[in-house]
Amino acid sequence: MSLKVPFHLPLVGEDEKREVLESLESGWLTAGPKVKAFEAAFAEHVGARHAIAVSSCTAALHLALLGAGVGPGDEVLTTPLTFCATVNTILETGARPVLVDVDPRTLCMDPEAAARAITPRTRALLPIHYAGYPAPLGAFRDLATKHGLALVDDAAHALGTAVAGVPVGLGTLATCFSFYATKNLATGDGGMVTTDDDELAARLRKLALHGMSRDAWKRFTADGSWRYDVEMLGYKYNMTDPTAALGLAQLRRFQAMQERRLALAGVYDEAMEALGLVAPPRPDVQEGTHAWHLYVVRLVAGGWSFGRDRLIEELKARGIGTSVHYIPIHHHSFYQRELGVRPGEFPHCDAAADTMLSLPLYPRMSDDDQRLVLEALEACRA
Ligand SMILES: Cc1ncc(COP(=O)(O)O)c(C=O)c1O
Repeated sequence: MSLKVPFHLPLVGEDEKREVLESLESGWLTAGPKVKAFEAAFAEHVGARHAIAVSSCTAALHLALLGAGVGPGDEVLTTPLTFCATVNTILETGARPVLVDVDPRTLCMDPEAAARAITPRTRALLPIHYAGYPAPLGAFRDLATKHGLALVDDAAHALGTAVAGVPVGLGTLATCFSFYATKNLATGDGGMVTTDDDELAARLRKLALHGMSRDAWKRFTADGSWRYDVEMLGYKYNMTDPTAALGLAQLRRFQAMQERRLALAGVYDEAMEALGLVAPPRPDVQEGTHAWHLYVVRLVAGGWSFGRDRLIEELKARGIGTSVHYIPIHHHSFYQRELGVRPGEFPHCDAAADTMLSLPLYPRMSDDDQRLVLEALEACRA
């Protein structure tokens, strides 16, 4: 059965098709001129000195942590309310993820809980801007300075977020973005690291391409050379030109897409209380602006005669797709074995996790689609 309103549908138009066709006809299938153009446009959009295009946010996180010098014996503080990739990339460096509970209001990692979790082995802080809400980077920066830690932010949800007036992508050692199919800027799969640090940027570029001294672009252009040196152990994490072509077109329509997300979030906000649902928090001016990647609601205690899991099924039966962000890290068997964590250990995260669901929210959604979601919610409650 196809859903009347799926959880997500991408917005791909003529501009994306033209860009991709141009890249296919250019002869550059791997990283070439479109990747260079996308990196330059993205760096300018965010205001960062460097943007390094990679194959995913997972790759971006792995590189940024390695670039920050994280390795075996180190601890990295992050949130249990995230996608597994955040924690996996810490493990891939050989370091140990240390989970820190979330602020019950924003569901972003709580800086006070993070301060309590710092040990002599702590090497880095890895907050995420949950759902697109601005994480309190100022507080994390203070902690990082006080304890000599690297601050890397997972901005998979947060292209379009600003923290205290500063666009996400600035003000930390490195910021990692995702262009996965459902993200605010979508290329299917893809990611970006931004940084203002020249040395780090040069190192990340090498790490992203086998540790080689020259990338394909430099080797195969008219003024290139076949010679290169492998200077360090690297990975195959580069973005390709057809992907960057999609990214260029998506970046041009980004502002309009964000405005649509904001408008849809505003309509949802108006309706939630009457439906027995808690609307997501809105940041105040000091905190920043929300990118509205996700619209995560919570069931009001006693407001529903059944729980979250059943609501998801009831909505599905009425043709509405929803999702859950996330099954917390400490509820998965692997991390229980690997990190010795248990459900119930992070009370704010646990309390939210059992009552939350994400409603459809994407620029391609029409007013009618949103009305169908709200009518289905009303029908479920009746
Ligand atoms: C918070 C967070 N971090 C990291 C990732 C990984 O992103 P990617 O799929 O681009 O590797 C995701 C993807 O959903 C995410 O939501």
